[in-house]
Amino acid sequence: MTLPRSYIAGCGSYLPERRVSNEELAQTIDTSDEWIVSRTGIKERRIAADGELTSDLAYKAAIRALEHAQMTADDLDLVILATTTPDRTFPSTATRVQAMLNMKSGAAFDVQAVCSGFIFALSIADNFIRAGQAETVLVIGAETFSRILDWEDRTTCVLFGDGAGAVVLRKEHIEADSDVDSREQRGILSTHIHSDGNYSNLLYVDGGPSSTQTTGHVRMIGREVFRHAVVNLAWVVDEALKANNYQRSDIDWLVPHQANKRILDSTARKLGIPEEKVVITVDRHANTSAASIPLALDEAVRDGRIKQGELILLEAMGGGLTWGAALVRW
Ligand code: ACO
Repeated sequence: MTLPRSYIAGCGSYLPERRVSNEELAQTIDTSDEWIVSRTGIKERRIAADGELTSDLAYKAAIRALEHAQMTADDLDLVILATTTPDRTFPSTATRVQAMLNMKSGAAFDVQAVCSGFIFALSIADNFIRAGQAETVLVIGAETFSRILDWEDRTTCVLFGDGAGAVVLRKEHIEADSDVDSREQRGILSTHIHSDGNYSNLLYVDGGPSSTQTTGHVRMIGREVFRHAVVNLAWVVDEALKANNYQRSDIDWLVPHQANKRILDSTARKLGIPEEKVVITVDRHANTSAASIPLALDEAVRDGRIKQGELILLEAMGGGLTWGAALVRW
């Protein structure tokens, strides 16, 4: 008997060219490189150029992921794009990217789970493949978060950046009665997603089509978000490990959402995972929301850190609150 499973056939990412350092921000708001680095680990972020949209970043990351997978858009039957900063209120940015890829068939839609968006999109894609409704899915996390920041609010505007990352998921069949442990065979072993709308006031945008008819700006109670992040992330990592009968020490690489270095350090410490096993990009990318995990994953795959056969744990938390994890055998 064979069981369907998805695996990551390729990954890609894209960052806008413009780098904005902490010193540059300190020229316009009351902050300093020392404050930002000590509280967040962020040294610089990329900011999209005028006229450069979320779909532009997403498209470039998608092309790189398809090339890495040695596939073309003709092979795709689904595009799922996680974003909080769509080009327009509608249609979805995923359909825009579908058109840019010249993809004439299949379906495309956006997913909104803020910083957890990539894990949510990956989970949906994996389930489509397991259910037999798709064979090849492009999963993208793309953001121009700079467009929803209040650039006079120093408590939020220093934290975020723009970027995009993508993976191509493909179906394959695992021999259920093979001698090889199915957990040792490549693929997404499981995904776990959660939300609790009671905490929506901790991190939100104060606008929207239905409420204010404006786009709005990010608002956040940073300390509370921090507290929930460390607890929820450690919990969902353990949930993913338990579901697959693994221990924390079995993880080869933790690829977390890059909110800030202190959340990464506290979560890794709580889980007893050494720093050398954590992929970190927050110092150069800041928090790129739904894009941060595929950006970090792509970097660690391309520089050779992540190798075939290793156990990778992806995790994220974001506004909603939302949080989730995915355990992947590379
Ligand atoms: N530069 C200088 N001073 C600042 C800045 C800044 N950029 N921002 C805030 N301050 C000041 C505050 O005004 C405050 O001054 P006051 O004491 O005179 O009022 C002081 O610094 C301390 O402010 P706090 O908010 O208490 O600072 P804290 O130590 O909590 O650090 C931070 C703030 C970095 C936001 C922290 O709470 C945090 O990391 N929270 C997690 C939030 C996060 O990462 N969110 C991302 C989205 S969610 C996600 O992705 C998981």
